[in-house]
Amino acid sequence: MIDLDANATTALHPEVLDAMLPWLKTHHANPSGSYTGAKQARQAIDRAREQVARLLNAKAEEMVFTSGGTESANAALLSMEQVYGERRGITSVIEHSAVLRCAEQMRNPPLRASVMANGVLDLTDFEIQLDQASWVSVMLANNETGVLQPLAEIVRLAHARGIPVHSDAVQAVGKLPIDVRQLGVDFLSISAHKFHGPKGVGALFVREGIEFRPMLWGGGQESGRRSGTENTASIVGMGVAAELAIRALENAEHIPRLAQMRDAFETFLLEKVSGVQRNGDLVSRLPNTSHLSFSKCDASGMLILLDDLGVACSAGSACMTGKQKPSHVQLAMGISAEQAKTSLRFSFSRLNTLQEAQEAAQRVARAVEKLRRVQGSGIGPVSVYQAP
Ligand SMILES: Cc1ncc(COP(=O)(O)O)c(C=O)c1O
Repeated sequence: MIDLDANATTALHPEVLDAMLPWLKTHHANPSGSYTGAKQARQAIDRAREQVARLLNAKAEEMVFTSGGTESANAALLSMEQVYGERRGITSVIEHSAVLRCAEQMRNPPLRASVMANGVLDLTDFEIQLDQASWVSVMLANNETGVLQPLAEIVRLAHARGIPVHSDAVQAVGKLPIDVRQLGVDFLSISAHKFHGPKGVGALFVREGIEFRPMLWGGGQESGRRSGTENTASIVGMGVAAELAIRALENAEHIPRLAQMRDAFETFLLEKVSGVQRNGDLVSRLPNTSHLSFSKCDASGMLILLDDLGVACSAGSACMTGKQKPSHVQLAMGISAEQAKTSLRFSFSRLNTLQEAQEAAQRVARAVEKLRRVQGSGIGPVSVYQAP
């Protein structure tokens, strides 16, 4: 199987697993205790906090460990709503459901800034909305298209009006350098399993000096910002994954290598297969993500054929899989519902190779040809799967 679904999740790095194992096998002490084992667990968590902070150019005290990207984004939004919620917030129309669904629960649901056809936030629209808002949450990189948002500019416009900004940076980590100081954000969410760490652990950057109201109350762990006994093994794993991501990003080859795989994949399909369209801005995007529409090829049929041919990828975001609704991200970009249903997302990680990218492109071309042949004969995608 060629795994081109890194935006859904990534494989646990062997060094991460090795670092986690002692904390699962033998070192079980509660880090809040006062005895030797507990102090060791506390030290391991402190070290991981420093490693994760370094990945974002934050201070260790500014990092709060959570159960993942969803919890981090929820905690940031709910805190901003409580502290600054005298007026509505602003999110964007293309946010992940971790932000959109959380925002819908609010007594005063936020405004949604629109995007242009290239998937980039419409700053003119956003600036008009800012006059009615008291907090902002805009993602750094979109999980479906990989399109990057002008976050530093968004922060500048918001801060000029004294408005705090959260960013869901879950998809950018490990693929691009992230510097919370340069971006100027007040809150930033990340998730370990998107950069070869374990699932079920993440972190929220809470800028020093900004007011934060916890979502979880209890024993006062994480300096009172997120109660609950710490998941030592996963936190240690996230720390090592952060360390490895820093090392990868320091290597001048890392980002060009991701882009080289993506570009080889796209070039083959654009040259050899008719009716292929790339969606989203071609410059302001993650180096690892390719979002393509294949005319007359229903994405659900493609996924079945590609699974048989040994390529893992997604239709829209992984969280949308199984739902027949066209993705809200594509609709927001003005892509028709019909075209949206023919779109697939291919996302590379540093564990992929150029040969895999080339081989996967050939398999995708084969799947397109087969599906068009069968669909042209009036047989639907489910029948394709059942046919020999
Ligand atoms: C942009 C974005 N935000 C948030 C999340 C949720 O992260 P987690 O799976 O760690 O809860 C995801 C996961 O797909 C994502 O892509």
